[in-house]
Amino acid sequence: MKIAVGGATGLVGQTTLDLLSEDQWKEYTVLAFSSERSAGGRVAFGDGQLELRPLPDEPPNGVDVLLSALPNDVARMIVPAWRDAGVLVIDKSSVFRMESTVPLIVPEVNGKLIQRSHRLIATPNCTTTPVAVALKPILDEVGITDVHVSSYQSVSGAGKAAVEAWEAEERGREVTNSPFGARIHRNVIPLIGSLDADGHSSEELKLSRELGKILDLNGLIVESTSVRVPTYAGHGMAVEVGTEKEITPARAIGLWKQMVGVIVAEDPSKPPTALDCAGRDEVFIGRVRRPVSKRNALLFWVVSDNLRKGAATNAIQILERWMSL
Ligand SMILES: NC(=O)c1ccc[n+]([C@@H]2O[C@H](COP(=O)([O-])OP(=O)(O)OC[C@H]3O[C@@H](n4cnc5c(N)ncnc54)[C@H](OP(=O)(O)O)[C@@H]3O)[C@@H](O)[C@H]2O)c1
Repeated sequence: MKIAVGGATGLVGQTTLDLLSEDQWKEYTVLAFSSERSAGGRVAFGDGQLELRPLPDEPPNGVDVLLSALPNDVARMIVPAWRDAGVLVIDKSSVFRMESTVPLIVPEVNGKLIQRSHRLIATPNCTTTPVAVALKPILDEVGITDVHVSSYQSVSGAGKAAVEAWEAEERGREVTNSPFGARIHRNVIPLIGSLDADGHSSEELKLSRELGKILDLNGLIVESTSVRVPTYAGHGMAVEVGTEKEITPARAIGLWKQMVGVIVAEDPSKPPTALDCAGRDEVFIGRVRRPVSKRNALLFWVVSDNLRKGAATNAIQILERWMSL
C-alpha cells in the first residue's frame, strides 16, 4: 500500500509523518507532498528523510491512500479529484465535514460507520474530537440535552505560519501580519475564525455542528466560546453537559476509565494541562464535578494534543479501522 501525505511540511502533516514512521507502518510506502514552494526539498521521516513532491491535481499511479493535511482552499480542489480516482482520502480540512454523504469520524465514537467502500472520510475539528470522545459514554449512559464549552486553543492549531508569528513576537519583534489579527505572545484572544451575523465565530460553529453529527443528535444544543491562548500544543475545553438523567462524577469517571485512549485525573487538585497532553495520543479529562445549581448536569475539563488526537492520530486511527474491514 502506498500512503500519500498531503501538506507534509505543515504541522499536521509532520505529525502524520511521525506517526507513519512507527514500526507498524514500515511495510508501507509513504510519499510526502507539499506546495511548489517546498517541493524538491526533504522532510524528516523516522531516522531518514523523504523527498518532497509537488502535489499533483490527480493522484500518481499506485497511490492508495491520501492523508490530507491541506488548507481548505487546496483540499477543496484536490480531495474530490483524488477520491474520484479511487484513492481513499482521509481529510483534515473543514471543507467536507458537514456533507451528508461524507462520514465524519472519531473511531471510538462512531467508527462503526466506516465502510470499506468509502473513498472520503473527514476528521473533525481539533476541539470537537476530544469533546465527542468525552461525551460519548455520558450520552450512552444517561442521555445528553445540551453542551456548553469554553475552549483554550493553542497556537499550533492555526498552523506553522501562526507558530512563526508567535515565536517572532517572543523574540520581541512586532508582527504586523499575524494570522491572529492581534498579538498572541503574553495575551489571550477571544475570537478564532470569522464572525457570522449573530456574532458566533466559525470555530464555535464548527464545534456545534460537528458534535451533533458525530453523536447522531440532530439539533443538539451546543454553545461555545473559542479562545486562542499562548501555548504551543494542546487544546483545553471546559465543558458543562446537561443530561437527561442524573449522573454522579464518580460514575462518569468510572465510564471514562473503561475507555481506551482516555486518561482521567481522579484527583481534582491535579488536573491535566496542555503540557501534559502535548505529544500524546490520548484524551485527558479532569476537574469532574457537579454544577452548584443544577442536578442533571456535569462539569469537566478535557484537553488533548490538537496535532495528534485532534488531527493526525484520529486520521491514522480511521485508516486502521478502514484497513481492518
Ligand atoms: N493545526 C491543527 O491543530 C489542526 C487540527 C485539525 C485540523 N487541521 C487542519 O489540517 C490542515 C493542515 O493544518 P496545519 O496546521 O498543518 O497547516 P500548516 O502548518 O499551515 O501546513 C499547511 C500545509 O499545506 C501545504 N500547502 C499549502 N498550500 C499548498 C498548495 N497550494 N499545494 C499543496 N500544498 C500546499 C503546505 O506546504 P508548503 O510548506 O509547501 O507551503 C503545508 O505543508 C488544515 O486544513 C487545518 O485546518 C489543523
